[in-house]
Amino acid sequence: MTLRALITGASSGIGFSYAEYLKNEGWYLDLVSKNEKRLENSKKDLKYEKASFHSADLSKSESIELITNNLDTPDLIVANAGIAINGAIGKLNKKEKGDAYYLMCGGVIDLIEGFVPRMVDNGGGRIVIISSIGAITAMPKSSIYSSIKSGIHSYGRSIARELKNKNISVTVSMPGYVKTNAHKRAGLEHLEKKVPKWMWINAKRVVEETEKASRHGKIEIIPGKVYRFTKPFLGYQSAINIWQSMTKRN
Ligand SMILES: NC(=O)c1ccc[n+]([C@@H]2O[C@H](COP(=O)([O-])OP(=O)(O)OC[C@H]3O[C@@H](n4cnc5c(N)ncnc54)[C@H](OP(=O)(O)O)[C@@H]3O)[C@@H](O)[C@H]2O)c1
Repeated sequence: MTLRALITGASSGIGFSYAEYLKNEGWYLDLVSKNEKRLENSKKDLKYEKASFHSADLSKSESIELITNNLDTPDLIVANAGIAINGAIGKLNKKEKGDAYYLMCGGVIDLIEGFVPRMVDNGGGRIVIISSIGAITAMPKSSIYSSIKSGIHSYGRSIARELKNKNISVTVSMPGYVKTNAHKRAGLEHLEKKVPKWMWINAKRVVEETEKASRHGKIEIIPGKVYRFTKPFLGYQSAINIWQSMTKRN
């Protein structure tokens, strides 16, 4: 039986890498993103007859309803779509904050809850949520992003316990700096020069480590050794100061 995966934000970065990974295993893929041009480019780049491409603005609840009402029930959901929204306190307007919250938190919850009953009927499946290391670290001037990622991290690890006896695994991935288009799109390209090279990992590595964790039923994964090593120290103020200076987040 061929497995089916739904990946949001599959036109570039981590989502596109996920699609490539699953293509190599012969999965059916439903790939969702918003921008038509990038979607067309990703179609050409992926070159995969078992993939269906869908254009939808996932910051709108109608889009999530259309997806959950019309697409086949996936064996794997990869809730990945997102933007590196940033801005000092008070700088983002209500709509920017609301859209970002729905795209990366509320909409992810609606997507998952729209499919879970049918996944249970089908005998189970896997859910992967791409959160961020920002869920567990302070991110001055990206406080909205950090709080969104924290919210979805918290939701994911809670439902992981709830769904355990329903044969559905939930894995929350918390990457640090990943080389994708996200920072440039958000006007944060200076970070690519300022943040030390060894702190960047590539999307392929994020996908490999996240998939491995999901297949082992792990609830959380921090891809990349450097970030796994840092995590236990993030509770100490002095370590947080060093971390913020290295990541240019002060
Ligand atoms: N890069 C990092 O350092 C990093 C670190 C930690 C976590 N993450 C998380 O990883 C996830 C993927 O990001 P990435 O780094 O791979 O960035 P990316 O290359 O910019 O890809 C983002 C994807 O999300 C899609 N997307 C954005 N807004 C959307 C919307 N309103 N509706 C539908 N699709 C939308 C984009 O589609 P379009 O082509 O239509 O815009 C694109 O496919 C995000 O959730 C991000 O927060 C990234």
